[in-house]
Amino acid sequence: MLMTDIIAKKRDGGALSREEIEFFVRGVTDGSIPDYQTAALLMAIVWRGMDRRETLDLTLAMMNSGETLDLSGISGVKADKHSTGGVGDKTSLALLPMVAAQGVRMAKMSGRGLGHTGGTLDKLESFPGFTSALTHERFMSQVERVGFAIAGQTADLDPADKKLYALRDVTGTVQSIPLIVSSIMSKKLAAGADVIVLDVKTGSGAFMKTEADARTLAREMVEIGKMAGRKTVACITDMDQPLGNAVGNALEVKEAVALLKGEYTGELRELCLTLGSCILTEAGAAKDGDEAREKLIKGIEDGSALAKFAAFIAAQGGSEKDVYDVSALPEAPVKYEAVSEASGYVAHIDAEGVGLVSMHLGGGRATADSAIDLAVGVELHKKRGDAVGAGESLATIHARDAGSAGRAAALLRGAYTISPVRPGPVPFVKAIIRSEG
Ligand code: URA
Repeated sequence: MLMTDIIAKKRDGGALSREEIEFFVRGVTDGSIPDYQTAALLMAIVWRGMDRRETLDLTLAMMNSGETLDLSGISGVKADKHSTGGVGDKTSLALLPMVAAQGVRMAKMSGRGLGHTGGTLDKLESFPGFTSALTHERFMSQVERVGFAIAGQTADLDPADKKLYALRDVTGTVQSIPLIVSSIMSKKLAAGADVIVLDVKTGSGAFMKTEADARTLAREMVEIGKMAGRKTVACITDMDQPLGNAVGNALEVKEAVALLKGEYTGELRELCLTLGSCILTEAGAAKDGDEAREKLIKGIEDGSALAKFAAFIAAQGGSEKDVYDVSALPEAPVKYEAVSEASGYVAHIDAEGVGLVSMHLGGGRATADSAIDLAVGVELHKKRGDAVGAGESLATIHARDAGSAGRAAALLRGAYTISPVRPGPVPFVKAIIRSEG
């Protein structure tokens, strides 16, 4: 088989056979196909697309390019969750203990943040002593014993995706539905869960800017998950403003803990209830969405979700007491109010802009190996639709020093659009997509 023939076939709009796709993925993984040929094929896929059968073959070939986790030794149904990412997205921190408290085990691999979006592992490292470097055995036994674990993705999981994504990132070939689907789903399938719930975000702060694109991506991922034998559901949710009120590592952890303590009732809680209901119903732990929601709410009210989170932090090297009393978590020395210059209603908050404020404060990574400041970030006091008066605080900036706080406040003000008219309500959960079959 020749790579030049495969490139030409896709360039001319042909469908690649399973053998051709496997040859390509093998060559990418072992380095025998040069980057220029890989990039040429990726660009041909961007333009010509792939049908569902090709997308499935690509996904499975990528999944099989490295280690796959066998979770069958853990009792019960195992679930996993993926988010396409956004600003202030600390959902996993609250969702996993909420679900685990209802007896459904969750086994999750997570990543670190790059650019303006934070990573779950970085956030969790706000707890002194926390580690995400778990051996396979420790990961499995913790899921069994505690109900959930969050580990860093190992180098051996889906090596084809690591190479392909790095190349896509620098060749303008990220935006392609079959390439995104195969990238996300190959990792999720390799991680071994029986139930996969996908949070596909849409809006100005999301990877998928329009709802139509988010729906297409969600539909394809759900169908590929099903064809691969996993129960897969996708929720389309709003990312037209940051999620919740906190943006920044330790600040986001504190917000997730507040949710688990029953002290937070905003859209982050709604998101956790929606995703959690999908997991409980797919796992057979609730007969329908209503019963699932009731169980999840009860788990917050009776403290069992918070207790699960504390047990998880302790199992991964932290201390339970830091969950019940978050004062040991990093805290920035400077707090500075970013006040509004106009009065009216918040018409829009540029989520990416707020993410960049947090990054400039030191809370995000400019490059993969830069250090981050876990204490800094932004606490939003005004969200879309809220009334605001001139001189009133839009947000508290948590900064290392006064200079960076002042610059961040100016940037933060620029991320807000204040209008004389109150904007209409926008549904937070836009759709739940299940398999058509
Ligand atoms: N996230 C991924 O993991 N892969 C993509 O291709 C896009 C987003």
